[in-house]
Amino acid sequence: EEQSLQKPTQSFEEFLSRLPRQCGWIPLIDFYHYQGCWYHPLFLRGVIAAQQHFEAQPTEIFLCSVPKSGTTWLKALAFAIVTRTKYSDLSSHPLLSTMPHECIPCLEIDVVRKEYSNQTDAFPLLATHIPYHSLPKSIISGGCKFVYILRDAKDAFVSLWHFLCRATPKDATYVSLEEALELFCKGVSSYGPFWDHVLSFWKARKEAPHRVHFLVYEEMRKDPLPSVKNLADFIGHPFSVDEENEGVLQKIMDLCSFENLSNLDVNKKGRHRPGSMLAIDNNAFFRKGKIGDWQSHLTPEMAERLDQITREKFGGTGLPL
Ligand code: A3P
Repeated sequence: EEQSLQKPTQSFEEFLSRLPRQCGWIPLIDFYHYQGCWYHPLFLRGVIAAQQHFEAQPTEIFLCSVPKSGTTWLKALAFAIVTRTKYSDLSSHPLLSTMPHECIPCLEIDVVRKEYSNQTDAFPLLATHIPYHSLPKSIISGGCKFVYILRDAKDAFVSLWHFLCRATPKDATYVSLEEALELFCKGVSSYGPFWDHVLSFWKARKEAPHRVHFLVYEEMRKDPLPSVKNLADFIGHPFSVDEENEGVLQKIMDLCSFENLSNLDVNKKGRHRPGSMLAIDNNAFFRKGKIGDWQSHLTPEMAERLDQITREKFGGTGLPL
């Protein structure tokens, strides 16, 4: 039976022990089921802390996604958009020396650990992978806005598998792609079920379209300009005609492109959250950045399994199938 961590005396371990668990994708780390979503325990600890303590400010804007849908790109773009006056000299832009995840803090990891103050350049931007229905109440009642990035399930799955193999300790065996697919289709994946995560924000968008803005990874990869313009409008930093004529929008797209970011030293050699249990090389966030890379990894049958679930879950909603 699911429950919140209510009694202050209840330890997190005791709380975890009452939740449904499943062998996860990473050896020796189980995923836990809480409020309809599967979590790695370290992330779940942060989700609970955020639910208990986070007080949102109404001006805050949350960059939301299920992992591997393009969060890193969205963070880079949103950060570059809101700071463009301060960093008009691109040669010293923070994104050239700081990986995007360090430019915009993650609610359930960085914010709850207080490794964040709202004096950062990124303010009022924050990021989270928490599904809409589990967000801290103050975010919903406070009138905050949300940008949601969505990606094809097959590419997101393949991307997640590669990423979690990278996160697997060196001496352990990786989960096979076939085993991972089995788990993913059952909904057991980081912040999964993948489809329910998307639907949670899609439903919120239907109820309050002015508060929830959707971006589609594939559309952005084909032609980023319209999506980047709409993103800037939505987060309250629209590009002026002069800026567009001066090429500011183009420069931001170039700065944040996969080709540019993935070739920077910081993203090739740096490490994210070094020294913590979540430490990982920055380059794990920049793999291929392609549409349709699933074709190099999934058999037609595996792809069809994912497509069928997408059709079942998204059919009739207006979400891309
Ligand atoms: P692949 O593994 O398919 O290459 P997230 O940022 O949500 O963790 O998602 C990671 C995926 O986004 C990876 O996909 C990664 O390569 C891709 N990505 C990272 N930065 C990008 C960028 N600037 N433009 C396009 N895709 C990017």
